Amino acid sequence: MMKVALACDHGGFDYKEKLKAVLVSEGYEVTDFGCHSAASVDYPEMAYPCAKAVSKGEADRGIVICGTGIGVSIVANKVEGIRCALCSDLFSAQATREHNDSNMLAMGGRVISEELMLQIAKVWLETPFSNDERHMRRIEKMMNIDKNR
Ligand code: RB5
Repeated sequence: MMKVALACDHGGFDYKEKLKAVLVSEGYEVTDFGCHSAASVDYPEMAYPCAKAVSKGEADRGIVICGTGIGVSIVANKVEGIRCALCSDLFSAQATREHNDSNMLAMGGRVISEELMLQIAKVWLETPFSNDERHMRRIEKMMNIDKNR
C-alpha cells in the first residue's frame, strides 16, 4: 500500500487528524510528522522533515496542511526532488498528478472545507501520472533546476 507522509501546523491540525484517520482506515501506511496539538508552532519544523522523507523515498507521497497551504508548500518545494502542489479545487488536484507528477500536496485549513480537503486528497492520491512525453519533458526540465542550485 502507498506510504503517505503527513505534516501540518496549528492552522491545519484538525484537518490533518481527520485526513490521517481516513487514510489509515483505507489502508494507507501513514507517517505523521506532526504537529500533534492545536498549539501554535512554526510550520517549517514539520513540513521540512515530511518533505525530506518523500525526497529520500521513505514515503511515496506527502500531504502538508497549514492555514493557507502556502507556507508548507514553499518549504516542501525547497527540498530536492519535491514537486509540491498547492490545491484548493478538484481540477487542479487531478491535473497536477497527470501533468506535474506532483509528489506532495499542500492544502489550506483556513481556505477550504474539511469535506473538500478530503475529496482533493482522494483525487490527488488516486490519479496516476499521464506518462505523456510532453509532460515528462517538462518535468525533466523543471527537476534539472535542482542540479543547478
Ligand atoms: C499560521 O498562522 C499561518 O501563518 C500558517 O498556518 C500558514 O498559513 C502559513 O503559510
